[in-house]
Amino acid sequence: MNPVYEKLQKCYESVKQKVDFQPEIALVLGSGLGDYGESIDVVATVNYNDIEGFPVSTVEGHKGRFIFGYIEGVPVVCMQGRVHYYEGYPMTDVVLPTRLMKMMGAKVLFLTNAAGGLNYDFQAGDFMMITDHIMNFVPSPLIGPNINELGARFPDMSDIYKKDLQKILRDTAKELGIKLQEGVYIQLSGPNYETPTEVKMCRILGADAAGMSTAAEAVAANHMGMKVCGISCITNLGCGMLDVPLSHTEVQETADRVAVDFKKLVTQAIINIYKYM
Ligand code: HPA
Repeated sequence: MNPVYEKLQKCYESVKQKVDFQPEIALVLGSGLGDYGESIDVVATVNYNDIEGFPVSTVEGHKGRFIFGYIEGVPVVCMQGRVHYYEGYPMTDVVLPTRLMKMMGAKVLFLTNAAGGLNYDFQAGDFMMITDHIMNFVPSPLIGPNINELGARFPDMSDIYKKDLQKILRDTAKELGIKLQEGVYIQLSGPNYETPTEVKMCRILGADAAGMSTAAEAVAANHMGMKVCGISCITNLGCGMLDVPLSHTEVQETADRVAVDFKKLVTQAIINIYKYM
């Protein structure tokens, strides 16, 4: 068997032994939503390092576990802490948890992250609904022998962030009176932030926000036929756009400052998506 698929199957069996729960929506918690776990009626948690062969996250502030439970009655699985490419894992490991959540039953993938704003109309603390992405600066998670059980060799990517889910997110933000920007996310490898010239390049390429995750997960999910949507928390403007150096502390402080609204938006969007499913 394909070793990537074999590893995935092993992790799936390991999780299945620990929990018997079928999520409808999978939610990836980015920076600033780290304590979102508190809003979940928890049925079970599984620490990543208790799953045999699972890539374990090392970034500060990222807890590594799946939370299974209900958000306002909606059956969900949440990833509290993701696996990043810059940690040194191959892309197939980076997207393993995404694939696992689909195998557990999730049909929708709701991605969140912290990102740097590239668009001069954005401000730190804004939220941006992802309408599309660019990820040519990191390898595709689908490189290697295709896992035919998961999806096609040459999958279409014309509609990753589904228009109907986009409409729900837009309407939800309006309903809550929360400002929601829209734009294209570009995934870069990190862990260093961009140079001012790289920021300019990304803007010229058509990106509105830059980050170090998310697009690879979206590609893997789309490959498997999941419906994807995503919101970035714009924690800062890209390097060089303001006359101050950028730090991880600033990113975390902004994410924490707007966390209450971010949680409100995500919770209501999940309720509205589930009604529609
Ligand atoms: N660049 C890349 N990733 C990020 C940034 C940024 O400016 N801010 C938060 N994540």
